[in-house]
Amino acid sequence: MRFLTSTSVALSLGVGALAQGAADAAQKVAAIKQATSQTAILNILSKDSDFVFDFNNASATKGVAGETISANIANFPVLTHQSLSMTIGVLEVLWRILNLVRSACGMNTPHTHPRATEMLYLINGSIRTGMLQENGARFVYNEVTSNQAQVFPQGSIHYQENTGCEPAVFVAALNNEDPGVSSIAQRYFGLPPDIVAASLGGIGVEEVAGLESKIPDNIALGTDECLKRCNITRGSQPTNQRQPRVSGNALPSGFSGPTPPSTTASTSTAASSPSVTHGTRRRSVRFN
Ligand SMILES: *[C@@H]1O[C@H](CO)[C@@H](O)[C@H](O)[C@H]1NC(C)=O
Ligand SMILES: *[C@@H]1O[C@H](CO)[C@@H](O)[C@H](O)[C@H]1NC(C)=O
Ligand SMILES: *[C@@H]1O[C@H](CO)[C@@H](O)[C@H](O)[C@H]1NC(C)=O
Repeated sequence: MRFLTSTSVALSLGVGALAQGAADAAQKVAAIKQATSQTAILNILSKDSDFVFDFNNASATKGVAGETISANIANFPVLTHQSLSMTIGVLEVLWRILNLVRSACGMNTPHTHPRATEMLYLINGSIRTGMLQENGARFVYNEVTSNQAQVFPQGSIHYQENTGCEPAVFVAALNNEDPGVSSIAQRYFGLPPDIVAASLGGIGVEEVAGLESKIPDNIALGTDECLKRCNITRGSQPTNQRQPRVSGNALPSGFSGPTPPSTTASTSTAASSPSVTHGTRRRSVRFN
């Protein structure tokens, strides 16, 4: 299997098609859940192609240093009752498409899957992974190279960082059709600012809000060490996956920093980020 990174990215399809696709999927899932036999389910999955997921033509969750594409119950109804989903991750692809720099040190930022254990298979490149399972558990660190796979148990906080100066591609299988994802920085700093400030030992609320405003979208640029080694400047990154503010977690009045995202939190189950899917486009990663 070979991956190509195409430069002909056709932005389009748009929000309408995306919303329609999601609505169609939800309708099928609801029908499958009502069905009383496997034969009835097969009638709902009336096209043979209902069993095939096209990663070339699915919406991605993106940051400046790569993206993830997930096949789960939200966009692939055949997974209903199957206790399985899959995510493809490309740590770094976007920079190459834009040709701004040749490569970047993409990091799938720390997150948990509340309902699934993940087994991540690395197709190429090498990554560093870290995991914390719960209070009292030791930190688990690994350097994973191509053709190796690692398990991240359900609920563990984990991350993957590409340590090379070339894109790294992984496939992650998850044992739930609705694995969910909770990005740690985006969610933690989306709690009420005074609560975050107090839990950090009493730093200022303005300081909390200032830090929160910088949290980059996933896939984000990784460590200073990697960026330096690969001759990459961090620059600015989009920050749209942060927790939207409502009255209960509002920023302090008078806070003059960057405005928080205004969208309501999405229920997306993409494996790398629960919030913003940046539009739909024809996929640039191809399986040959
Ligand atoms: C991994 O595959 C991608 C997609 O084909 C390619 O762009 C990248 O250079 C490869 N990375 C390595 C380290 O070989
Ligand atoms: C890509 O997805 C869109 C929206 O689901 C669909 O209308 C279109 O036919 C698909 N294109 C291909 C080439 O599969
Ligand atoms: C980074 O720049 C240095 C100095 O110009 C060069 O020797 C090195 O090969 C570059 N590294 C990469 C990954 O491009």
